[in-house]
Amino acid sequence: MTQKQWTAVDRYITDMLVPPDPALDAALAASAAAGLPPIAVAPNQGKLLHLLALTRGARNILEIGTLGGYSTIWLARALPTGGRLITLEAEKKHARVARTNIIRAGLADVVEVRLGKALDSLPKLAAEHCGPFDLIFIDADKANIPAYFTWALELSRRGSLIIVDNVVRKGAVIDAASRDPSIQGVRRFNELLAAEPRVSATTIQTVGSKGYDGLTIVLVTGKPAKQPCSRAARAVRTPPEKRRTAKRPRSGNAIQ
Ligand code: SAH
Ligand code: DHB
Ligand code: MG
Repeated sequence: MTQKQWTAVDRYITDMLVPPDPALDAALAASAAAGLPPIAVAPNQGKLLHLLALTRGARNILEIGTLGGYSTIWLARALPTGGRLITLEAEKKHARVARTNIIRAGLADVVEVRLGKALDSLPKLAAEHCGPFDLIFIDADKANIPAYFTWALELSRRGSLIIVDNVVRKGAVIDAASRDPSIQGVRRFNELLAAEPRVSATTIQTVGSKGYDGLTIVLVTGKPAKQPCSRAARAVRTPPEKRRTAKRPRSGNAIQ
């Protein structure tokens, strides 16, 4: 399997299922013309983000890492009337290109591009009570993924989706000895995820026009119920002959 084949298949999928769109196409063209790196999500990945936002019924979206606003436009287009999206970008030039692209897409009233390092912007969002966000897309510098994930949890609610891009990195993620801060960031993120009782997550490896990488999808399931007076705790303390009904599954436990 080669990059050439992955790209050809991505093109086939996109030709079939992702119709050309003037605003999205213009955003990519303007980003390239301004010299931005070609690291936006692929069109079929942008559509995946869009579909996930629609599925979630997201009204309040946070993106960390704007670049030229390509993924931003895909996500913002899933918002209902009155919905909004805040996207964080550290590079002045990227933010400027993104704002132009977002205006061209007719999303100026929906999307706010906040210029600055995400780790400076995130505490401000919290202080301004901008959350909770229904969907958070983490796609900035990979070394800070653990910190972004921690903030994402802080700014989310039960039912929120957190999506993290670039978590496989050509397979380098399994190299425990890697000195690459991006790889270490992803590995530390996976450790946080594995130990975090408030979420349920999986990662899918991807190949396509953007190479071999992966995407993590995290559902915030909330803190597990462990109050001493919960139905389960009562059942344990109550002798069987005094129990009113047979044990029933508790509601709210479907998602683990
Ligand atoms: N989400 C975009 C691609 C983002 S590329 C898309 O798919 O269309 C990553 C972006 O994160 C770059 O624009 C980079 O400038 C930005 N970035 C890197 N470090 C950052 C930081 N500390 N805070 C905010 N943005 C950062
Ligand atoms: C890089 C960043 C991305 O978000 C991406 O999707 C691909 C590459 C990068 O910084 O190299
Ligand atoms: Mg990315």
